[in-house]
Amino acid sequence: MALAKRRGFIYQASEIYGGINGFWDYGPLGAQLKKNLRDAWWEDVVLNPCGGRPGPNGEPLRMVPLDTSIIQHPKVWEASGHIAGFSDPMIDCRETKQRYRFDHVLVYGPAAAERGGKPFFAFVPDTASEARQKKKAQKAFGEVRSFPLSQLSPADWTQVVAPDAERAGTLTEPRAFNLMFKTYVGATASEDDVAYLRPETAQGIFVQFKNVIDTTRVKVPFGIAQVGKAFRNEVTPRNFTFRSREFEQMEIEFFCHPSEARDWFAFWRDERMRWWRDLGLAGQSLQLREHDKDELAHYARAGAGTADIEYRFPFTAPGFGELEGVAHRSDFDLAQHQKHSKASLEYFDAERGELLPNGAHQGERYLPHVIEPSAGLDRGVLALLCEAYVEDPARASPELLLLSPRLAPIKAAIFPLVNKEGMPAVSEKLYLDVRRRFWRRGLIEHDVKQAIGKRYARMDEAGCPYCFTIDGQTLTDQTVTVRDRDTAHQERIALERVVGYLEERLGPG
Ligand code: GAP
Repeated sequence: MALAKRRGFIYQASEIYGGINGFWDYGPLGAQLKKNLRDAWWEDVVLNPCGGRPGPNGEPLRMVPLDTSIIQHPKVWEASGHIAGFSDPMIDCRETKQRYRFDHVLVYGPAAAERGGKPFFAFVPDTASEARQKKKAQKAFGEVRSFPLSQLSPADWTQVVAPDAERAGTLTEPRAFNLMFKTYVGATASEDDVAYLRPETAQGIFVQFKNVIDTTRVKVPFGIAQVGKAFRNEVTPRNFTFRSREFEQMEIEFFCHPSEARDWFAFWRDERMRWWRDLGLAGQSLQLREHDKDELAHYARAGAGTADIEYRFPFTAPGFGELEGVAHRSDFDLAQHQKHSKASLEYFDAERGELLPNGAHQGERYLPHVIEPSAGLDRGVLALLCEAYVEDPARASPELLLLSPRLAPIKAAIFPLVNKEGMPAVSEKLYLDVRRRFWRRGLIEHDVKQAIGKRYARMDEAGCPYCFTIDGQTLTDQTVTVRDRDTAHQERIALERVVGYLEERLGPG
């Protein structure tokens, strides 16, 4: 987090006013890193889906993009089930006015059954309350054990000291707390004007399904992809950007015939896992986890299941945190919107149904099933930063980011060894040449100040893969040094080779 701030990746939102919990801003390098990840997703999902690999039907994938509004008709959220069901159970502490997610709270009690009239001590794991309450419980009981608050019987409810409280019995009963941000559309701000900031981008896709079918030449099976902001009034935003109240999603809704849903589910689950791995989240820190039956969301219960792609973030280790969910949503959403809007969302598939004497098919009308790979852009950035972060005590500045050249916000940096003796003029020209060629791929940096070691260290921390330095020798033999971030190894190459050198590593500009 310190490096992310120091190098301008991520800042606390409204920091000069003390910050606002659950909101984050991306600094210059973070904004570019986030754009690079968003672009990589767009390229590999919309423009060249799955690198050209065919789907389970043996055909190239058909994908189209969409960009829908953050605010939709409130009935969208009624139909989707978000108004009735998108909530977390919350408990409040009457003494400290703190609010907790019921399912996040555990209690310490005696290891043996008998409490001798003493209370339970509640805590939230990984917060200061954990050690504090454990100490109190050990003082009261000696040996202690912990278990979820939800396992306590209602009779014991008044015998709990809340995580930040002094006395027992100050916790309220759990109440459902809707996670959608409410707002008002128009000037009157009456209850008739209530609207919601979307808690997922997916619903915008479902409600435009018919328009996409009618106005383009796509045929089922095909996917609609959308990237955009989503908002959730998370009760306990935490772990840096992992659980934020405003975040970006990269969602695919892939529409297929119900009989093919299982094959498409397996296809997307494996493809999405491969994608994250190819971006650099390789090894033991990435895992695929199939949901148990009782974990499935309401829309996924009847289908082939849900699989989460999870990353072992430093704050979840040794456990994992969700990066992307791949769910078989069946026809839940289209059926709900069809019912609530009264618009037919059925698809007429001319290539199915009985074969007629004239060789054509009779056709089949159905509601397609949906496979939904839904990824978090902010969680992706966070996972990539965590994976890239390395400490190398052998270096003058021991922290560096081993970001892949595709994702690194700064692709190359160009320095004069010293800011005199004709070197800045040469480096400035090289900088402009390189920028003219590679600006589409990301930032190119030119830095003339400070000792060269400090400039290299800055670039290591920024994750810049290549630094080129103009020195005294350049002026005599037209060569420069190129320094590789990963090895800190330097070699000399011809000045005129710099663009070609980068092209070999970054691809054409
Ligand atoms: N349309 C399905 C859907 O929204 P989800 O599992 O609730 O499913 C999808 O969200 C992804 O969005 C998650 O895998 C995660 O990466 C990201 N996400 C969800 N809530 C988030 C939050 N509060 N902060 C940051 N990212 C979040």
